This record gives sequence, structure tokens and C-alpha cells, in this order.
Amino acid sequence: MEIRSQVLRQLKNRREGFSLEQAFYTDPDYYKLDLEMIWYRDWLFVGHDCELPKAGSYFTLQIGDYPVVIVRGRDGRIRALHNTCRHRGSRVCTKESGSAVRLVCPYHQWTYELDGSLMAARQMGQDFDKSQFGLKKVHCESVAGYIFICLANEAPDFAPVRAAIEPYMAPHRLSEAKVAHQSTIIEKGNWKLVWENNRECYHCVGNHPELCRTFPEAPTVSGVAGAIDDPVITEHWRRCEAANLPSEFRISPDGQFRVARMPLIEGAESYTMSGRKAVVRQLSDGVTIDGIGTMLLFHYPTTWDHMLGDHAISFRVTPLGPEETAVTTKWLVHKDAVEGVDYDIEELTHVWNMTNDQDRQIVEENAFGIRSPAYEPGPYSAVHEGGVMQFVEWYSNFMVNRLQGDEQAKLSIVA
Ligand code: FES
Ligand SMILES: [Fe+2]
Repeated sequence: MEIRSQVLRQLKNRREGFSLEQAFYTDPDYYKLDLEMIWYRDWLFVGHDCELPKAGSYFTLQIGDYPVVIVRGRDGRIRALHNTCRHRGSRVCTKESGSAVRLVCPYHQWTYELDGSLMAARQMGQDFDKSQFGLKKVHCESVAGYIFICLANEAPDFAPVRAAIEPYMAPHRLSEAKVAHQSTIIEKGNWKLVWENNRECYHCVGNHPELCRTFPEAPTVSGVAGAIDDPVITEHWRRCEAANLPSEFRISPDGQFRVARMPLIEGAESYTMSGRKAVVRQLSDGVTIDGIGTMLLFHYPTTWDHMLGDHAISFRVTPLGPEETAVTTKWLVHKDAVEGVDYDIEELTHVWNMTNDQDRQIVEENAFGIRSPAYEPGPYSAVHEGGVMQFVEWYSNFMVNRLQGDEQAKLSIVA
């Protein structure tokens, strides 16, 4: 309880436009509270529809203390289930991904249908009611090829997310794509540092020589303000919207997610060293014009994304501990694109493999310095770090609202 009021007090008295106090980036109790208030209660991007091509395809993941399995049922629907056996709690699916006819617990072979219902449990007696012991369900939504889950008993309304992001993503037809390559890197830093680093390109010119060949470092592109006053961007929107590609900058009222189609550096089509397309076969038939730039999505706390004409890249953030975060990157291409013919893996992945590793080093150095007793919150650049300020603002408001909401709920129960 003490920790809750302490965090609430610190966030309410936070100096605006400054980074957070040390404990928000290092302290295990603060981390636990982040999990409870955000990660266990909100919508989280977990993966793509195309990773579950047929009935029985599944993948697993771990969010804090929760092991979860995402599986496609016989009815074609994608579901999320708590990956903890209703017998004595063993993890049911132990592999990262695979394909199964049924989900069989390795301990005593209780056997579940793909929708989680318990089908068979040996020698549990006449009176045993199997219908009471299905795998517990996790809220699950799929939108334009992206799967989101929510671990809370009652999930926040997903409709506004769907309504805002689907029109921007649909032309890229990601539900029909395939993952050409994926990588997971571990960054020794708090998940918020990973986000803060992502939300600005102030660091790009000094750290990302490969990315800077094609991605503009202008804060109007990566940030959350000023795009409307940038003539290069508004001209880009006009051209794309004329080709039926929703493009204008949109952000949710609470600042949790944003979509916008942004231009790349003039002449660039893709994130390659040459700037030329990495994939001959276009990702989608819906995207027919050249120079469509990159459709940028973010949804806190799990994903930032780039959707180009020839491929798309998704990023998933997974907190592993107070000072450890996994970043999973997936490169999506047209489902019929053939490696070695339509694209070369090295050419497709080089820029972001380099960029990811550079970002890892930056985040780890940032975390290292923050551990110093001499660290104190420092000022963000109003010119370049508007996106970071927006992230910290979102985090802070979100935590304050939920902490206060919980307190009020408790008071009303007592009363
Ligand atoms: S714990 Fe799963 S069958 Fe016993
Ligand atoms: Fe970066």
C-alpha cells in the first residue's frame, strides 16, 4: 500500500518536461506496480494472425507472471488462453510456437480442445465435471493482422482502437502476409527507457547511420506535434489520401496510440542501404503508388510499427524485469514472396538489425547512468523530444488515474 501512495505522490508532483525519478527505472516494487496497473490491465500487442496459419497453430508468451498461449481454433478463430493447467497448474504448452491437434498437459495428460475446453482427464471419477475445468480465457482481438490480448477480468473497450487503426493498416493486408524474419534482443534497461528512446529521433543522427539514409530525423515525423505545419508531410498526406490511403496524423484522446503516414527521405522507398525496395513483390495490392513512405503506428505499452509499400516491421516490447526488456522485431512480406527471388534476407533486415543493436547500446548506457546516486531527472528538448514527453505524460496520467481509481473503489467498498 505504502508503495502505491509513494508512486502516486511522486507522479503528481513530477516536474513536467523532465525525466522520471530514478526508482521508476530501477526499483523492483515500482516495476511490479507497472505490471499490475498497465501490463495486467490493458490491451497488449502479442503477434500476427499470419503466424497462426491453420487450426491448431499456436505461440506462447510470458507477460510478467502470466504464461499465455495464443491458438487458432477449428472454427478459424484466434483465442488467447491462460497457459496453466486446471489440474495442478503445470504449463500446458511449453514450446515457443508450434502446431497441435489438441493441447495436452505434459504432467498428467489432461487434454484440452483448441478453444480451451477440457476434453479428457484420466481417472478423475464418475462425478468429475469436465466443463468446470477448461483453460481460463484471456480477452483477444485481432485487427488488420495484429493480435491484441488483455489479461484483466474486464478489458477496456477495444472498439476505439479498432476504429482508429484499422483503416490505416488494412491496405497493407498484413493478415495475408508472412513473417520473413524475426529477432528478439534483450536490452538491459527498464521498459520505459526502451520507449523513451523510441519516441525521439534526437539521437538518430549520432547513432543510426544506416537508418538515417532513409528515415527523416525531423521531430515532426517521429514526434506528436507539428506534422500539420510541415509542408513536406501535408503534401505527402494529400498524395496518399488521393490514392485512398488514410494518412493524416491521429492520436487517441488519452495519448495511448497514434497512426500517421509519413514520408521517407526523398527518393527512398524502403529501409535499405540503397533506399530502394527490399521486396520485389509488393506487400499489398491495395498499395499501388510509389513513394507511400511509412505508416507509423504506436500503441503503448507494447508496440511501434512501420508499414511500407514493400514490407512491414513490427516491434513488440516485453518487460522481463525492472531493468530488463525484450524487443521482438518481425519483418512481414507478401505471403507469396519467395526468399532469394523476391527478397534477400540480409538486404531486408540489415538496417533495423543495426538500428536495434544501436538502440540497445543507447538504452543500456542510459540505464547505467540512471543507476548513479548522482542521477536526477533532466530536461527533455522541447524541439526534439516532444514524443518522449508525450510518452511520460501518458504513463504518468495512466498510473495516476488507475491508482486513484483503485483507492476510490476501495473507499466505496469500505463505506
Ligand atoms: S498438472 Fe496438468 S495434467 Fe496434471
Ligand atoms: Fe534509435
